[in-house]
Amino acid sequence: MKNLKAIILAAGEGSRMKSKKPKVLHEIMHKRMIDYVLDAAKHSGAQSMCIVVGHQAEQVQSAIEREDVSFAMQTERKGTGHAVKMAGAFIEDDQDILILCGDTPLITGETLQHVVKFHQQEQNSVTVVSAMVDDATGYGRIIRDAKGAFLKSVEDKDASEAERAVKEINTGIYIFAGAQLKAALDRLKNDNAQGEYYLPDCLEILLSDGQRVGAYTAADAGEFVGVNSRMQLADAAELMKKRINRRHMENGVTIADPSHTYIGSDVVIGQDSVILPGCVIEGNTVIGADCVIGPNSRLTDMRLHDGVTFQTSTAMESEIGSNTTVGPFAYIRPNCQIGENVKIGDFVEVKNSNVGNGTKIPHLSYVGDTDAGEKINFGCGSIMVNYDGEKKHRTTIGDHVFVGCNVNLVAPVTIAENSYIAAGSTITRDVPADVLAVARARQTVINGWKEKRIRKKDEK
Ligand code: UD1
Ligand code: CA
Repeated sequence: MKNLKAIILAAGEGSRMKSKKPKVLHEIMHKRMIDYVLDAAKHSGAQSMCIVVGHQAEQVQSAIEREDVSFAMQTERKGTGHAVKMAGAFIEDDQDILILCGDTPLITGETLQHVVKFHQQEQNSVTVVSAMVDDATGYGRIIRDAKGAFLKSVEDKDASEAERAVKEINTGIYIFAGAQLKAALDRLKNDNAQGEYYLPDCLEILLSDGQRVGAYTAADAGEFVGVNSRMQLADAAELMKKRINRRHMENGVTIADPSHTYIGSDVVIGQDSVILPGCVIEGNTVIGADCVIGPNSRLTDMRLHDGVTFQTSTAMESEIGSNTTVGPFAYIRPNCQIGENVKIGDFVEVKNSNVGNGTKIPHLSYVGDTDAGEKINFGCGSIMVNYDGEKKHRTTIGDHVFVGCNVNLVAPVTIAENSYIAAGSTITRDVPADVLAVARARQTVINGWKEKRIRKKDEK
């Protein structure tokens, strides 16, 4: 089997997006279009990828940092054949070259694997991927002879009436044998309706040389939908959402309302977890088994272990241990390690903190820059005062500490294990183990105060 490399065309202007941002960097479900294409190429077996950039090249280049990706520059847009030629140094004679477009994010690695297999079994010099569509307007058409063998791919603008009636389209995806691709690119002409060097013309050139040229008809035309406008971006997102949700449901995840559930393509969810309506789950989030997420929650780059209940809350870049409950209305910010059987209750914010197993933070607390041990009880309204106006400091709390309601722990401060902090205390010095710390004004009672006040009023 030959090695596979991929060239991804992304030099076009994408003017219909009406955006300052390069088209291929626009996101679908929190992931950039180009990343879907790169991942599909990788999945199909490509060992390295070369992106042909032109319009806003620097922006695209600086946004993509992957060891397996290199770039080729196309300074003038002279057509898809010309674009591939700009990646000439990347093409090796004895390797197969997969060609993809940066703006077709729905293509899957599985489909590309089928194409690779077909290409190798048929021992083709080039295989073009085709699809059957109802409306082929704008696409190149695949023209076959009476026996069904491939003849040529003709552009919409160059097609005859009869050719335009064909519903088999060129999807813009190909696998070429490296040496043949180079040879054909050198012979491309631009004597066509658009005055461009068309990559599809390579097929006819190779066929006329007696090379084996085939068309692989893909089953799902939906994978080749291109994104040229914001409307098409939304259409692609809708298709992607359905595809991802279906995959999770097939794997044993309950999604109560798939039309209102947005799960990123790299998210992993364990069996018998339930996703309630209105959730956005994105990035590299991994959710264990038997979790209940939602309604109306957002998880970004999170790791949830089994049996977590996460209700109407937002969390990012943190880890939550098994059987912990979160929410409603909690906010877990980056770099939190939250243990097992923890309760993070309503209106609780946790940031850059470790929370040990069995600890309860039931309501209205801020826990920032804190290392909290096991089985601690945080009273309602307890605040870790982590910021002195200039610097952030850490708070350390030992196991089994009881933090009373409305307590301020002014960092840096350490509360040793088993101690109690009286409600309303503002603690500024370390507290040893096994004590009660009280840091508030002692209550005084002024007898006869009300009577005195009435007398004063009468004297006026
Ligand atoms: C192309 C195919 C057409 C196919 C269709 C599938 C050609 C001539 N036509 O048409 O047969 O049905 O894709 O979507 O190939 N690009 C460059 N540099 C260029 C021109 C294009 O990098 O000079 C890139 C674009 O950014 C885009 C891709 O190549 O990612 C396709 O170009 P586009 O102009 O959209 O080709 P289509 O007219 O759609
Ligand atoms: Ca296009």
